[in-house]
Amino acid sequence: MSREKWGTKLGFMLAAMGSAVGLGNIWRFSFVAGNNGGGAFLLLYLLFVILIAVPLLLTEVSIGRRAQSDVVGSYKKLAPGTPWFLSGFFGVFSAFLILGFYCVVAGWSIYYFWNYLTGYFSTQPEAGYGAAFGEFTSHSWQPLFWVALFMTLTIIIVVSGVKKGIESANKIFMPLLAIILIILAFYSLSFEGASEGVRFLFSPDWSAFSDPGIYIAALGQAFFSLSLGMGAMLTYGSYLSNDHKLPGATIGIGLMDSFFAIISGIVIFPAVFAFGIDPASGPPLVFITLPTIFEQIPFGGIVGLVFFFALVLAALSSSISILEVPTAYFMRIFNWSRRFSSILTGAIMFVLGIIVSLGFGIWAGVTPIGENNILDSMDYIASNVLLPLGGLSMALFVGWYFTKEQALDATDFTGSRVGNVWYVIIKFVAPISILLIFLNALGIL
Ligand code: PFF
Ligand code: NA
Repeated sequence: MSREKWGTKLGFMLAAMGSAVGLGNIWRFSFVAGNNGGGAFLLLYLLFVILIAVPLLLTEVSIGRRAQSDVVGSYKKLAPGTPWFLSGFFGVFSAFLILGFYCVVAGWSIYYFWNYLTGYFSTQPEAGYGAAFGEFTSHSWQPLFWVALFMTLTIIIVVSGVKKGIESANKIFMPLLAIILIILAFYSLSFEGASEGVRFLFSPDWSAFSDPGIYIAALGQAFFSLSLGMGAMLTYGSYLSNDHKLPGATIGIGLMDSFFAIISGIVIFPAVFAFGIDPASGPPLVFITLPTIFEQIPFGGIVGLVFFFALVLAALSSSISILEVPTAYFMRIFNWSRRFSSILTGAIMFVLGIIVSLGFGIWAGVTPIGENNILDSMDYIASNVLLPLGGLSMALFVGWYFTKEQALDATDFTGSRVGNVWYVIIKFVAPISILLIFLNALGIL
């Protein structure tokens, strides 16, 4: 059976954007920025996106397109008899880790959507949105129902295949999300006290740069947000044929993803300050601030409904790309059907999701890393360690294992001046920057 392919280049673009734009832009971006000083974080984040992440995105997609295989198979095919494929294993492992917590937050989003549908969240619950969130997430099985629902939807799309499932879904999801967020940003800016939030996001407090945690946080966010370093983009690239040019496409994906992050920052921080919420409240941030905004605005109940609907779509278009990584890998090595492979993989991720969810209830005292609960710990390892390591190995692979001719050819950069800049970045600049940021995070530098 021949491998599946995208229907059109636009289909690939939308799917890759769908993978990039997700909970990372709204939920994760806002609490990581909130924890790390706002403006200073945003500046570093954008720097890393331009300098490291977008060039690496091109690198990752081009590996998949050249090899026409999954994340492990691509390394095996392009570098037979070498240990490079181990970096593909890291990718498969990261996929489990990430979807294991991603599905929990996505489940919360569906729950919110449901509560706007029934009208329950249209007015503030008696104890307040913060308490309602805490009560819901600490319940033992209630959140799991929504997580299971989310994983089922993810599996259904992946089972339907690359073109009929993944590509079609993204064509609807993405435009809808953009429109909703832009409207909300205007609303949020209209609040009294909004300017403080805008200042928080756009004027860097320079002293924040002396906090070593900010560098690794910005790097991790850049990788997470662009779906980089675990093979999701590589696998999507493997469904592309050679007649589509890559550099423009990857810049488009990077721009779009940053646009969504900034817009959601403009939605969230003005409201955070206008309502006196602590910007460093961590993962629950958007689940408390947004309903608070919605309650204040005309037709807020409908806005909340539409917003959480869009958030679920954004989460879905990302989760399918995460599930696709191990699905494609198991399909090849065990000769499994797409259906069997995705159901089994999704089920394992759901089990991880149970563990993560209980980390907000009966296992709230379990803190694997420092003071971080189970979700934060898994997120920290995946986003700040595994993804940058995966990206580092991709850069080294194309920068040092490939010849320069092969590298330029794989990225459609042959004979291009920009291509030379890209090559210097992935050969030297990106690997060295990632290493320096690691050393800094370890306290060595
Ligand atoms: N980029 C997604 C987001 O911002 O929500 C999350 C993600 C998707 C991370 C795919 C990693 C990945 F491979
Ligand atoms: Na993102």
